[in-house]
Order: sequence, then structure tokens, then C-alpha cells
Amino acid sequence: MSGLGSPLPQLTIKGKRISVPIVQGGMGVGVSLHPLASAVAREGGVGIISSACLDRLVSRRTGKRLTTYEATYDEVSLSKAAGGYAGINIMVALVKDYENSVKGAIDAGADVIISGAGLPLGLPAIQPPKDTALIPIVSSARALEIICKKWERLGYRPDATVLEGPLAGGHLGFKIDSIDLESNRLDRLLPPVKDMAMKYGDFPIIVAGGIYTHGDIARFLKMGADGVQMGTRFLATEESSASPAYKRAVIDAKEEDIIVAHDPGSPCGLPFRIIKHSPMYVSALRRARAPKCDKGYVLLKDADGNFSRCIARESNEHAFCICNGLLSSAGYNPEKEEPLYTVGTNAFRVDRIVPVKALMDELTGKAALCTS
Ligand SMILES: Cc1cc2nc3c(=O)[nH]c(=O)nc-3n(C[C@H](O)[C@H](O)[C@H](O)COP(=O)(O)O)c2cc1C
Ligand code: SF4
Repeated sequence: MSGLGSPLPQLTIKGKRISVPIVQGGMGVGVSLHPLASAVAREGGVGIISSACLDRLVSRRTGKRLTTYEATYDEVSLSKAAGGYAGINIMVALVKDYENSVKGAIDAGADVIISGAGLPLGLPAIQPPKDTALIPIVSSARALEIICKKWERLGYRPDATVLEGPLAGGHLGFKIDSIDLESNRLDRLLPPVKDMAMKYGDFPIIVAGGIYTHGDIARFLKMGADGVQMGTRFLATEESSASPAYKRAVIDAKEEDIIVAHDPGSPCGLPFRIIKHSPMYVSALRRARAPKCDKGYVLLKDADGNFSRCIARESNEHAFCICNGLLSSAGYNPEKEEPLYTVGTNAFRVDRIVPVKALMDELTGKAALCTS
């Protein structure tokens, strides 16, 4: 630990002034729910819930069987209830629930919808977003240009964009063999993405992936970013809804334990960063789990238009069952299914679980800084 840090500037998105330019990244399944999002919002940042499997998670919490729309509405409302700015992360890969998640979030007054794991090309066309900012996640200037061109035709311009580099947790927007390229380092990706944002209307850039300390945040803001999005640090908070075993696995993880899974990997087809001891992954390596599709969140349409395609449905040889693995790591049916622990590259630096307030004080430079 060392001294205090310099104050951070505010971040403005769609006319809303956010006093702390830190967005807590959406973490599915069930890691970032309203307890975490509202705690971050109260501290002046942007709290983000994840849309993944919300119908099941909120139905269990409330004891009522809720639709995706209702569960989203409920969880977004609770995230905003204690004040501050809060929104939702909705993954494009969750095709079946995508539109209802967007509608529930807008109707509940989400401050932002952040959408990636695929290109959110049709997002502005789902429903007029009113005061909700629409924010695509990209990993390159090229992806941002494709989105801007498509959204232009829909009469919309991104309210901001998240630029996520290859050190992030969750799904990665890079091919497996390009993750370690120098040219894909976040600081190298930022200038062309900033130029692209200028070209399409000068909207804010929020950088993500591997940002860990107050010093990291200050460095990226100096390079031209307007804000940062952070996942792993918020995973290791008291308010995160990761199971106690998940939090323990993060604390215990060493640098060499954090790998990018791809074969077996996520049935979504994107590289996925995990702790290699995750029981669901170990079982996939051993071909030990009998495939069973009883959740269906990442199903795609077949040739007849029915939602039935997922490569983990028939075999767990090349893909693990991500729905059950991640639900288990959020404490949903852990006795029935093994957990899968996704983390960012820096998870090995986490050595304790802290309350959000203490973390935000550290990240904003108000409290003694972490230098590990
Ligand atoms: C446990 C966990 C779950 C995540 N889930 C999602 C998700 O559901 N959707 C998404 O777009 N990003 C997801 N991410 C990425 C984060 O939102 C964030 O952008 C990323 O983790 C930033 O990198 P960092 O962890 O190094 O701070 C997840 C990250 C983690 C660690
Ligand atoms: S096989 Fe598993 S990962 Fe694929 S949709 Fe079904 S429950 Fe989800």
C-alpha cells in the first residue's frame, strides 16, 4: 500500500454526469446482481447487473415464476432503488432472451444497456431507448465502425462504447491465436477506436480488461479514455453474488492457474478465460459429464427456425455446458452441477474479499492505494 491518488474526472453519458468514471462490468451468470450494482451506484460509479439467466435467478429470489422481461424489470429497479446510476449488460449470444431483456431494462429506466459477446447490430431498433444509453462492447475499431454504420441507418449513434482488450474475464472478442499479440494490447487498441468514435460523433470510450489499480485508471484516462470498466476487482467484493467457493478460488488462484479455454470451450464459440481447476472444465477435459440441455440460454435457431442448436447439447468433448457451470458458480443448484469460474487475467493478484466502499475508495484514490 502507498499514499493517496489524484482525483478522477467525471464521466458524462447521454447527458448524465457520473461522478466516478468507473463502470462495474456486468458479470454473468449471477455474479453482478442488484446488491453489487446498487453498491457501486451509491459510491458514484455505474453499477451493472448481468442479464444472463435472470429469469431463473430472480424467480428463485422472489419465489414467483417470472418471465425474462419481468425479472429484468425487477432487478434493474432494485439496482437503482438506492440512488446513483445503474444498468445492465445484455449479451448478444443470449439470442433467445435478448429482446425481452432489452425491453425490460428500458421500461425499468436502466441508465445504460451495455451489449457485447457478438455485435449488437439491431439494439436501437428493439424499442425507443428513452433515457437509457445504448453502449456496444467492441474489441477493435473495425467492429465499432460496423456497428456505427448499421446504427446510423437506424437513426442512432452509440452513447458510448466499451473497448474490451484481451486481458478481460468472461468471453473475449479475439481469436485464440491473436490474444497475446502486441497489436491487441489495450493501449494499442485505444487510439484507433478513439479516432473512430470521433468520426461517428465523439462519444465516450470506456476501456476494459486488466485494469486493476488507481494508477491503471489514471494512466488510461491520460491516454484518452473517458472511463474504465472493471470486472475482476468487483467479483472479489462482499456484495458480489459469486458463491463463497468461487470467491475462495479467486483468492487461491495463481498466475499459471488462469487460462483461456477454447477446446473444450464455451459453446458460444468465443475464447473464455477461466481458472483451470474449475470442476466443470476439469470434467470436460476428462469427458466425464454426460451432456444434458436443461437450461437452453445459448441455444441458436436450427434450419427450421426452432431454438435447438448448442454444441454442448450433444457432447461435452469440445464445449462445456456454460449455462449449468456458471449457474452453479453463482450458487444455483451447486449440488447438481459443477461450477465454472471465469476471471480476468489479474485475478491472481486478489488476496482478499473487500466491501465495495473500500474498493471504490481505493480505486478513486481516496484511500491508501493497492500497489500489488
Ligand atoms: C466473473 C465475470 C463474468 C463476466 N460476465 C460478463 C458478461 O456476462 N457479459 C459481458 O459482456 N462481460 C462479462 N465479463 C467481462 C466484464 O464485464 C469486464 O468487462 C471484464 O472483466 C474487465 O476485465 P477485468 O476483469 O480485468 O477488470 C465478465 C467478467 C468476469 C470476471
Ligand atoms: S447444452 Fe448447456 S450450455 Fe448449451 S444451451 Fe443447453 S444448458 Fe446451455
